[in-house]
Amino acid sequence: MQSVGRTRRSRSPSFRGMAYAETKKKNNYVGKIVLAATLTALCILMLKRSSTFGSPSPFSQRDPGVTHVLVTGGAGYIGSHAALRLLRDSHRVTIVDNLSRGNIGAVRVLQALFPQPGRLQFIYADLGDAKAVNKIFSENAFDAVIHFAAVAYVGESVSDPLKYYHNITANTLTVLEAMAAHGVQTLIYSSTCATYGEPEKMPITEETPQHPINPYGKAKKMSEDIILDFYKKANMAVMILRYFNVIGSDPEGRLGEAPRPELREQGRISGACFDAARGIIPGLKVRGTDYKTQDGTCIRDYIDVTDLVDAHVKALEKAKPGEVGIYNVGTGRGRSVNEFVEACKKATGVDIKVDFLPRRDGDYAEVYSDPRKIKRELNWSAQHTDLQESLQMAWRWQKSHRDGYGTPP
Ligand SMILES: NC(=O)c1ccc[n+]([C@@H]2O[C@H](COP(=O)([O-])OP(=O)(O)OC[C@H]3O[C@@H](n4cnc5c(N)ncnc54)[C@H](O)[C@@H]3O)[C@@H](O)[C@H]2O)c1
Repeated sequence: MQSVGRTRRSRSPSFRGMAYAETKKKNNYVGKIVLAATLTALCILMLKRSSTFGSPSPFSQRDPGVTHVLVTGGAGYIGSHAALRLLRDSHRVTIVDNLSRGNIGAVRVLQALFPQPGRLQFIYADLGDAKAVNKIFSENAFDAVIHFAAVAYVGESVSDPLKYYHNITANTLTVLEAMAAHGVQTLIYSSTCATYGEPEKMPITEETPQHPINPYGKAKKMSEDIILDFYKKANMAVMILRYFNVIGSDPEGRLGEAPRPELREQGRISGACFDAARGIIPGLKVRGTDYKTQDGTCIRDYIDVTDLVDAHVKALEKAKPGEVGIYNVGTGRGRSVNEFVEACKKATGVDIKVDFLPRRDGDYAEVYSDPRKIKRELNWSAQHTDLQESLQMAWRWQKSHRDGYGTPP
């Protein structure tokens, strides 16, 4: 090598420079190739070590014997309890929630209980974003959808009706379109007794005419109508569940009801009862004592969340393609507000201060369900019908979670 170099060097200085540059270039080139090869090998090694490389996400695959359920609104009160039951029953669960009302803390509880791969995933998304919804459906192999996600306060719906039509009606349409586009055929829909309005005859059966009197009830009824117009064409298996007033929480104390503090004013009677017992509000306001009921206060049908979730599981099992089932989910027994307040005092052990005020516009005297159809067809009936016991269960969670699920990040 040296001699060749020397010979070349003696011949011409320019040639000598070229030879040196060529060798250097060659060395650089080889070095680069070696470096690139080493880096590539390293990357492949690292990727192979990561559990997801090469194997697609379990959520994107269908596994025999595993039902993958999309739970919209699964960070919320009812949705989180339903997700817990589905996971306990060995289903695969994807929660989609925009956390506008729900709690990431509830999702974390579920993740801690079911950490195994392929059991539970949480996707932060807004159902009003059709592109995002479509992407979720294209990346996941769902067998069924339980559509809980919604804004759900009667009073708020009166002051902000468009929000309700968007969030409930338009979003249900988006979910339906995505289901149709991606061949997902089973839908369990969260509806409400508010779709009946103020029926004259009690109890309310599924045949009772629906004449909702506020945007919340109307938006839900519109969603029901859209589903009913569409299910046959798409050969969908649909169950529409019309819940009455939901109370209680997980008997094992893992989950509870934790509405946003700013929604307290809109809140439901159980939330108000606990807030009063904890001294967050000075007391309870009972509006209307001159209704034509046994004690003059309004009568409602309170259904425990554990029973409600069980109705969803039964509905999921019995849903058949090309068929729709519509069911009231209630106890069939009306309880007066006074009865509720007394049960609440006993459950919390606090002598809650009660103020009796005049009637509120739009409240109806008496609402309770006829639950015979769901008993007959789905073999479901409410089991947790002791008001005080349901409230006691919920109070236990409230007491140990004074700050709800904590401040969201
Ligand atoms: N709680 C009751 O007494 C009752 C009675 C009848 C019917 N329902 C129905 O049950 C369902 C659940 O109610 P809940 O009491 O658990 O309410 P919730 O507010 O606790 O839960 C609703 C969840 O939906 C999510 N959500 C809302 N809009 C969304 C959107 N655009 N995209 C993604 N997520 C969104 C919220 O963040 C929340 O986590 C609702 O459809 C409601 O209408 C409830």
